[in-house]
Amino acid sequence: MPLEKMKELKLDWDVKRFEVGEVRGIPLTKEICDKWHKIWAFQAKPDDLLIATYAKAGTTWTQEIVDMIQCDGDIEKCKRASTYERQPFIEWVLHKTLPTGLDKAEAMPSPRTLKTHLPVQLVPPSFWEQNCKVIYVARNAKDNLVSYYHFHRMNQVMPEPGTWEEFFQKYIDGKVLWGSWYDHVKGWWEAKNKYRILYLFYEDIKENPRCEIQKILHFLEKDLEKEVLDKIIHYTQFEVMKDNPMANYTFMPQEILNHSISPFMRKGTVGDWKNHFTVAQNEKFDAEYKKNMAGTSLTFRMEL
Ligand code: A3P
Repeated sequence: MPLEKMKELKLDWDVKRFEVGEVRGIPLTKEICDKWHKIWAFQAKPDDLLIATYAKAGTTWTQEIVDMIQCDGDIEKCKRASTYERQPFIEWVLHKTLPTGLDKAEAMPSPRTLKTHLPVQLVPPSFWEQNCKVIYVARNAKDNLVSYYHFHRMNQVMPEPGTWEEFFQKYIDGKVLWGSWYDHVKGWWEAKNKYRILYLFYEDIKENPRCEIQKILHFLEKDLEKEVLDKIIHYTQFEVMKDNPMANYTFMPQEILNHSISPFMRKGTVGDWKNHFTVAQNEKFDAEYKKNMAGTSLTFRMEL
């Protein structure tokens, strides 16, 4: 059943926050852990495109940009279905009565664009065997943390975030769903030397969407007229996307995503962490950051 239709229905189960299990040391929902053997065995096809991110790094934004590119800037075509339906979230299991991300992916005709938050070592191996293209988007750790905290508050199936202080610590310790931000961004950074991965940064897309969208066009071997590119830039900017009902997650039932607690399209900026971090937290975070990012060539901008 398409999820946008669900909104009109009364959910026939009690929405509860997921319990957390582990796959090879990575915290994932129990539902994902239970289906892990099937997820790992997923059969990718050579023309699959995978959009991979750590949660809250700009996945939905990238999904919309990619879909607009694939639809040659035809906004009506992009509104054919919600983000959730257009690009299946391969590891996601919302409820046993609903199709899983795998079910959606398997039912989808090629060429498919798929979404994942999995750290690189947990990506089903068929993606590498089939030499699939992957677009990875990373966001600076501080803004990513703030966004993740608010998402836990509004998303009634995410584990209880606790207080801001508690969540802050959990994130530093990598005890949140999909694990450590550090390991995620570093793992994918290493993998790009081996596989067909376009590694992008949220901050760069925010600063210069034209340049970053052109990188995606090049990666996808697409060429679009300047007018089409202008249109894509316009329709994927935060202010426009937040009013797009097919991309702003208001298509999900309010019992699951409660936008009155914090909208899914919350701020869409770089540097919002400064409104959340205390001086002491910032010092602690910087010290952890230095330790965890030592020895990598990967760098982030925390402000523009
Ligand atoms: P904030 O909570 O900081 O506002 P994801 O799609 O990976 O869950 O990421 C969600 C984050 O991306 C949210 O960040 C959301 O507002 C932001 N976002 C979504 N669309 C965006 C856009 N078009 N431009 C900038 N940020 C966007």
